[in-house]
Amino acid sequence: MATERALEMATDIASYRNDFPVLKTKMHGQSLVFLDSAASAQKPQAVIDAMNRVYESGYSNIHRGLYEISQNLTAEYEAVRGKVADFIGAPSEKSIVFTGNATEGINLVAQSWGKTFLEEGDEIILTEMEHHANIVPWQMLREEIGIVIKTIPFDESGVLDLKTFESLLTHNTRLVSFVHISNALGTINPARKIIEIAKDFYPEMRVLIDGSQGIVHNVVNVTELDADFYVFTGHKLYGPSGIGVLYGKEELLNEMPPFKGGGDMIEKVTFNKTTYKEAPYRFEAGTPPIVEVIGLGAAIDYVSAVGMENIAAHEAELLAYGSEKLSTIDGLILHGTAPDKAGILSFTMKGAHPSDIGTILDQCGVAVRSGHHCCMPLMERLGLDATVRASFGLYSSKDDIDQLVKGLHKVKELFS
Ligand SMILES: Cc1ncc(COP(=O)(O)O)c(C=O)c1O
Repeated sequence: MATERALEMATDIASYRNDFPVLKTKMHGQSLVFLDSAASAQKPQAVIDAMNRVYESGYSNIHRGLYEISQNLTAEYEAVRGKVADFIGAPSEKSIVFTGNATEGINLVAQSWGKTFLEEGDEIILTEMEHHANIVPWQMLREEIGIVIKTIPFDESGVLDLKTFESLLTHNTRLVSFVHISNALGTINPARKIIEIAKDFYPEMRVLIDGSQGIVHNVVNVTELDADFYVFTGHKLYGPSGIGVLYGKEELLNEMPPFKGGGDMIEKVTFNKTTYKEAPYRFEAGTPPIVEVIGLGAAIDYVSAVGMENIAAHEAELLAYGSEKLSTIDGLILHGTAPDKAGILSFTMKGAHPSDIGTILDQCGVAVRSGHHCCMPLMERLGLDATVRASFGLYSSKDDIDQLVKGLHKVKELFS
């Protein structure tokens, strides 16, 4: 079934590629082969058009103006909240908070929920494969209130050790916060299973999922997962930068104090006392990223029309093809070979540093990421300082992978 869909997708891929104007540009005089979608995805014309349309023919501030364009844009902005809720299977648009990015969503939970519900000695569990966005906010909280941070290790292939996870749970554990899909290894973590283990141990346990990559590569249903919080960022989902989403269970969000104060999030302000709006509005202080929200809505319409299952099947096909092709390159070591994996290939090559590989590939028109991918503890665990990462988007093709392989042969020529 998945293969059938992948085949359909493969025949359609040329037309999808044409939706992304930047893919027609050249890099060093060669057709751009963009293999850095895990860092940020390219934008389809539909997203660019939706944002331009607002700036050209209907821009104003929202939630304030009594005039027509402000009222229309307010309605359009709020409709995106419902669209996001439907897209992730959330029961209500009231559980959708617009943030600046995934990082801000996690900081919001750490500062608002963390400072309200955690105290000195309480334990939280992360994994060794977290992005810094799901490490540093908790360390900042640790400095402020003295929580304890534990981590779930992963094995050689990049699979989390759930037995150790179970042994880390104690009567002081209050939160498990983990990455849905690793941006550095591609591992798809068994989110439902992790939540089941956590909530079987202690039903009041809270679980946050960093869905920055998870939202991009397959269908997500936060209700089926029973996640308490799910965060993601718009720019990896073919939408604009500057917009992210924090999903939180509505009753939980309403128990949490605001994260930032200012206009638009209040009910009443006096110099003696201020009262706040209900969630999600109490978390959206100041003028929000209005046009970015409209862009995110257009991105969701776009990927929904393509079909998240189709995108997943297409990327699975590319992953199989890419893994096979890279395995033929002598001296290349693939990092992250979990059986359940998304379209991310992280590797090193004997005798060539990842930044040299990235620079040579750039000269060949191939854009990849070289570095620690904001996962320094993961790199330390692998005994590396960096990898090269090629990551796919819905517009990626086997030709892109062939270009990558050609570039890697050039690296070999130069470094052997
Ligand atoms: C797994 C993961 N978490 C968090 C982030 C942070 O996303 P943002 O910088 O948009 O907040 C990223 C981005 O690379 C990521 O891949």
